[in-house]
Amino acid sequence: MAGPGIRDFVVRAPGRVNLIGEHVDYAGGLVLPAAIDLGLELRGRARPDGHVRLLSRAFPGGADIPPGAEPAEVRPRWAAGAAAVLGLLRRRGEPAGGFDGVVAGDLPAGAGLSSSAAFLVSVALAARAAGGAAPPDDAGRMRLALLCRDAEELARGVRCGIMDPVASLLGREGAALLIDCRSGVVRPIPVAGSTVSFLVADTGVRRDLSSGDYNRRRTECEEVEKRLGGRGLRDCGNRDLEVCREVLGPVLFRRARHVVTEIARTERAAAALGDGDVTTFGRLLVESHESLRLDFDVSTAELDALVAIAVASPGVLGARLTGAGFGGGVLVAARPGAEEGVGGRLAEGFRTRFGRSATVRVVRLSGGAEVR
Ligand code: GLA
Repeated sequence: MAGPGIRDFVVRAPGRVNLIGEHVDYAGGLVLPAAIDLGLELRGRARPDGHVRLLSRAFPGGADIPPGAEPAEVRPRWAAGAAAVLGLLRRRGEPAGGFDGVVAGDLPAGAGLSSSAAFLVSVALAARAAGGAAPPDDAGRMRLALLCRDAEELARGVRCGIMDPVASLLGREGAALLIDCRSGVVRPIPVAGSTVSFLVADTGVRRDLSSGDYNRRRTECEEVEKRLGGRGLRDCGNRDLEVCREVLGPVLFRRARHVVTEIARTERAAAALGDGDVTTFGRLLVESHESLRLDFDVSTAELDALVAIAVASPGVLGARLTGAGFGGGVLVAARPGAEEGVGGRLAEGFRTRFGRSATVRVVRLSGGAEVR
């Protein structure tokens, strides 16, 4: 129990599943993620000396982060992101206090469900709570999301977009979020649970995004924009790309085609989902996977196999890799009632092909991070 003047708090930060709009957030595109009912929980107690001491159920070793610590100097390494968040909160004039915290939860790391953003979000909200601030409103949540994005780059060198922390902070129960990553406008798209269920199947393959493949894709997109004379991919159509085929060369052309077609698919998918047209929505998921596999080149044999097994299963509307790719998991959209059968086929088919199990979970679209 807290003594007088000592604040105890619990932060719950959800993971997210991205329904569609992959590898387009950093190109100012449209994405359609949702916060899910798997997340991290940080139990904390404010400290008066400004230090943040963290333990994690998922990673070994405890961290003691003094005020002003450089992320690169923090040990163990898993806590570096916390130092980046704390430094940015103080630099940007956001309330932040020290605390002792333990991070636990049911969100697997590396499964494409954004455990990394959930961790940064939980630290940001914990530091605010420890500093005595009230939970942020939507504008404050967006500010924190941008800060968490910057912290990810500072701590791990991953030049990611804003999708993951925005989904974790601004998620809405029973809805996906159509995020315009250029304007920052977020529009909840209510999803009737009677029309579609979502499963995620984890390949168990882990690839650290800081290893370079992710940043390479982003650099390729920037190179495309340079060769298009500074024109953003968000403003291009297929015809614009055809005209520039020569200038781009085959690889950059395919990268650009993914981004341009994926943004258009996301817009159509959000409209279809909002209208309850889950058949169209499902078809767009499969098209997205094909584009990520062939044009953006971020899929793997395991991800392709799970998508193939899923789409051949009764009751499945569509499936695609979700998150950055290179490992992680797939999202499956299924008709309600089909979840168990689909889950069984995924697990069995994956085991037959790869000799090990894929973890399948049903996920529900949930609200954003909370502080109690
Ligand atoms: C990771 C990044 C996001 C986004 C996705 C791919 O999750 O953190 O910003 O770019 O990959 O869509």
